[in-house]
Amino acid sequence: MRVLVTGGAGYIGSHTVLELLKAGHEVTSLDNYSNSSPESLRRVCELAGKPVKAWEGDVRFQAFLRDLFMGNRYEAVVHFAGLKAVGESVAMPLHYFENNICGTNNLLAAMQLSDCRRLVFSSSATVYGVPRKNPVDESHPLSAANPYGRSKLVIEDICRDLAASEPGWNIALLRYFNPVGAHESGRIGEDPRGVPNNLMPYVMQTAVGRHPFVKVMGTDYNTPDGTGVRDYIHVVDLALAHVAALERLSDFRGAEAVNIGTGKGASVREVIAAAVKAVGKPIPSQDSTRRAGDAPAVWADPALAHRKLGWKAARDLDAMCADHWRWQKGNPEGYRP
Ligand code: NAD
Ligand code: UFG
Repeated sequence: MRVLVTGGAGYIGSHTVLELLKAGHEVTSLDNYSNSSPESLRRVCELAGKPVKAWEGDVRFQAFLRDLFMGNRYEAVVHFAGLKAVGESVAMPLHYFENNICGTNNLLAAMQLSDCRRLVFSSSATVYGVPRKNPVDESHPLSAANPYGRSKLVIEDICRDLAASEPGWNIALLRYFNPVGAHESGRIGEDPRGVPNNLMPYVMQTAVGRHPFVKVMGTDYNTPDGTGVRDYIHVVDLALAHVAALERLSDFRGAEAVNIGTGKGASVREVIAAAVKAVGKPIPSQDSTRRAGDAPAVWADPALAHRKLGWKAARDLDAMCADHWRWQKGNPEGYRP
């Protein structure tokens, strides 16, 4: 398939571009490199032994998108481009709405104009808010706890409204749980700008000496060891879920949401213990207070993904840590030399 991947140079995008190339698709990336660098795509080409067309451009620029779609006639789009830092979204809501919501609106308009109605969209488990029960399935009520989450909810609604307005749209709204890990080669991985908010990159950067210790944020939750529980998913499994969704888009009637998780929760202490095993040396940590707004526990019911996409996560927490560590050790400063 001729596929446009927006945000193709980013963390999940680069891993997905690689798996799409390996599956024989013709891939073009569109990225403004606001949170990535072209180096990730250069490495993807190296790993795939194939070229990727890469456009530097912004999904907020409507005229540019229109020309791109009319000139290339893509058969499908995988849409990752957007901003994702929860704290930043609270400080700069309009910037988040412009990038995520207006960007997606432009993209859908350009797709409609060029008669391309097949989309895989990066949604998030954040649309479930604080879950009422676990595991969380797709029928769980939706809510937004911050502007980032609201942008995902609004985009899901836009997709549902658009698909209801005219026939022919096939849209997969993939709700990711907690993506971690890296490609097993250690050549591509997550390269957060500034101090990471997320647990796994913080743990791995601590292991290479970039931070003195990991804060265990909350030890008094009602969970088996008192620390927060999440459904961590290996980024290569997540990338393969996109390949599966793309290849089964014709089974999606309008816009349908699917959870992408493992179905298993791991606590903060379990993640640190698995990371220590992968790294082979102690990683300093200190107990700390809860982070405002955090849910005690979130894990997915991934049954629909299995039924609808024929996809199941294959990589466990040890593989996630081993692969994340290989990337971090080989690239202590990420893609920067
Ligand atoms: P990322 O920041 O690594 O990738 C996003 C890419 O989009 C970057 O390369 C960035 O430069 C690009 N981009 C941003 N705004 C753009 C714009 N206006 N025009 C063109 N390109 C633009 O993030 P990621 O972790 O790979 O996440 C990809 C998607 O998945 C995002 O939409 C994110 O919200 C969603 N998601 C991520 C997580 C996670 O924990 N990583 C969880 C759930 C959902
Ligand atoms: N945590 C720590 N120390 C840290 C960072 C996190 O103890 O330094 C804890 C958190 O309290 C939580 C767990 O580790 O219990 C996971 O936290 P992350 O920040 O890694 O992940 P979240 O589940 O909070 O959020 C992530 C993304 C959100 C997305 C959500 C659901 O950052 O954007 O998953 O997909 F919405």
